[in-house]
Amino acid sequence: MEKIIDEKKQGESLILEQKKGNQRKLFIESYGCQMNFSDSEIVASILNEQGYNTTQNLEEADLVLVNTCSIRDKAEQTVRKRLEKYNAVKQERNPNMKVGVLGCMAERLKAKFLEEEKIVDLVVGPDAYKDLPNLLAEVDEGRDAINVILSKDETYGDISPVRLNSNGVTAFVSITRGCDNMCTFCVVPFTRGRERSRDPQSIIEEVNDLWNKGYKEVTLLGQNVDSFLWYGGGLKKDFDKASDMQKATAVNFAMLLEMCAKAQPKMRFRFSTSNPQDMTLDVIETMAKYNNICKYIHLPVQSGSNRILKEMNRQHTREEYFELIDNIRRIIPDCAISQDMISGFPTETEADHQDTLSLMEYVKYDFGFMFAYSERPGTLAERKLEDDIPLDIKKRRLNEIIALQQKHGLMRTQEHVGKIEEVLVEKASKRSDAHWAGRNSQNTMVVFPKGNYKVGDFVNVKITDCTSATLIGEAVGYSDNY
Ligand code: SAH
Ligand code: F3S
Repeated sequence: MEKIIDEKKQGESLILEQKKGNQRKLFIESYGCQMNFSDSEIVASILNEQGYNTTQNLEEADLVLVNTCSIRDKAEQTVRKRLEKYNAVKQERNPNMKVGVLGCMAERLKAKFLEEEKIVDLVVGPDAYKDLPNLLAEVDEGRDAINVILSKDETYGDISPVRLNSNGVTAFVSITRGCDNMCTFCVVPFTRGRERSRDPQSIIEEVNDLWNKGYKEVTLLGQNVDSFLWYGGGLKKDFDKASDMQKATAVNFAMLLEMCAKAQPKMRFRFSTSNPQDMTLDVIETMAKYNNICKYIHLPVQSGSNRILKEMNRQHTREEYFELIDNIRRIIPDCAISQDMISGFPTETEADHQDTLSLMEYVKYDFGFMFAYSERPGTLAERKLEDDIPLDIKKRRLNEIIALQQKHGLMRTQEHVGKIEEVLVEKASKRSDAHWAGRNSQNTMVVFPKGNYKVGDFVNVKITDCTSATLIGEAVGYSDNY
């Protein structure tokens, strides 16, 4: 028996020998938030150094990595289905393939993953990607490998990401990791650890590098970008212990935005996500001051009811949220605003739900991302509150929220009709090869006939028509804003 294993191992190491020198193939896919997509680019960069090139073809992959999401139960089920698919490919066509799980599910389930899913050889949490070379060496030797240690200071600021599935025009740059907010429904603080910010200098270097490579738009990413705070490294919650010098030279989010806008005045900047409790007037004023900071804020609120906001441990009231909205509208009248909303949080009454709808009526969001509450293991809500709203009620409330959002979305897109707006061309329109698609400053998709324009051009487009999510127009010339 031992001999057979030895022979199998020898066979495997022979294959490894043959595949050295950028010969090995990595298939990597991501689920969940933009941060996961950005992290996968960091992972691809780390593995590139180890001789892995990416492939889109599962059947030829030596290593399959799936970057996973735990935010709702459905997201986890999607990943489980993918693992079944990898298993089928491995059995039928690619017996030497190794499979690793990255990201939030890896962090949440830890070693349980190796027990529950026989296909999995490798489990790596969001702060442990630099350990991948060591972990893969273990896997190569036939052992399962795991590292789910969360870090105080890892930001991957020193890694230059390999851009995956890129249009060559827009890119993500991560600026903070983790979250300290502890919203009671949310698994992120458990899977991504405490909040820390990345060295602004390394952010600017990445932005400059992207510009030099032809990119025209950067989205600064974090669970909570507005609480960005650099004071030389370390956790956000330890800022109080910083020296006077560190405090005096600290960089906050408004300052970082300004640094970016000035470093590349012809590049567009976006950011996501803003937490209402952390968004300051400084940030709004900086957005107003620079043409190249897009006029769009993703401002999740989750509920319109003060009682539910409190149960969710959101650190603001409905009235404070309205004040923030009023300030945004006053300082940036053409700013688009979008929401995340949760229906059927424990104890939510019809009156609470009506508060959500009336809050939406007040704001009239441009877009929204809306979900039925999904209880997550280990969260405060799971431990303290019963998931007591029946699924059919959650769904009915969710449908009412979605219907109202569609109505407001259409109202908002109609406001653009007749205007001339600057669009950054990203790709061919999905519906028609004769049209370009790109976004205006407010993040709404605009399609228009291609003419002689090309991907990466800033084009002024006269908006002539719209649907609830897309603007339709005609190019009137290059934009001279930049
Ligand atoms: N600050 C984060 C929020 C992460 S979660 C960000 O960068 O986007 C994204 C959204 O998922 C949340 O705003 C919330 O609306 C939703 N969500 C989180 N946990 C949820 C749960 N348990 N059930 C349903 N929706 C949830
Ligand atoms: Fe989650 Fe709340 Fe942070 S939604 S990511 S705990 S701000």
